[in-house]
Amino acid sequence: MKHLLNPLDFSVTELEDLLKLANAIEAEPQKYAHACEGKKLAACFYEPSTRTRLSFEAAMLNLGGSVIGFASGDNSSAAKGESVSDTIRVISCYADICAIRHPKEGAALVASSRSSIPVINAGDGGHQHPTQTLTDLLTIYSLKGHFDHLKVGLCGDLKFGRTVHSLIEALIRYPGIEFVLISPEELRVPGYIREDVLDANQIPYKEVERLEDALSQLDILYMTRVQKERFFNEEDYIRMKDFYILDKAKMKLAPKDMLVLHPLPRVNEISVEVDDDPRAVYFRQAQYGVYVRMALILTLLDIHID
Ligand code: CP
Repeated sequence: MKHLLNPLDFSVTELEDLLKLANAIEAEPQKYAHACEGKKLAACFYEPSTRTRLSFEAAMLNLGGSVIGFASGDNSSAAKGESVSDTIRVISCYADICAIRHPKEGAALVASSRSSIPVINAGDGGHQHPTQTLTDLLTIYSLKGHFDHLKVGLCGDLKFGRTVHSLIEALIRYPGIEFVLISPEELRVPGYIREDVLDANQIPYKEVERLEDALSQLDILYMTRVQKERFFNEEDYIRMKDFYILDKAKMKLAPKDMLVLHPLPRVNEISVEVDDDPRAVYFRQAQYGVYVRMALILTLLDIHID
């Protein structure tokens, strides 16, 4: 049985198969409309979510399956003190596959060790968010056609941004990839990503503070939100929250074919005036999230449609 806990749980070849399947689903959704009839997804969200939870639900419903679950730990027996290990053992009796989001790093790993059904990490604290990475990769694959030799700017909260950590780990597997890490000093990418992932694999990168200094060189700009919920101190959050605002004037500095991605939700870091720019693909990215989660459910349940 396979789980998805980390973006690297899929090899490059497996990932390519998954992305091709997602493209096939996008092209012919009707062909897959009954693929999961009789199957149930448990969507167990201990932390707030709009896109991840609802796109998982939409994905399973699009495949003809059903969905059970909860949208907050407070609505489950976690509020009475039940452990993740016990919860997943019970959910294994009710569902065929489980997507879990939890504020604690490693929660999905713990769940997978006790589960008799495939477990998907839908975000564990500030650690990993592999299905967002699959969404990001599908967006790049569909709109750029390749991953190699891209210069990717990652901007905003690179310290707590789990989507950033997962995306870096996934992209370093392709030749010629380069990163520009754009953040204030306090929100730099953590040492374990810089040293154990980038330095250890001799991936070229530079760290800059000003977005304007990076824009002209990028193929992809991945914007992120400064996450209020990860700060211990409100004062620090207020100081950092509007550090970056991508607006029309800054977009003039960027190449004509640069793509702007954002895992969403956005707060102020991308001005709404950028939304109509053809390079702004973050809402298309959210749509790709449904196709890739459909492909993921089929893959983990080992369901094949000719
Ligand atoms: N991108 C993302 O994870 O969004 P949600 O928090 O709304 O699921």
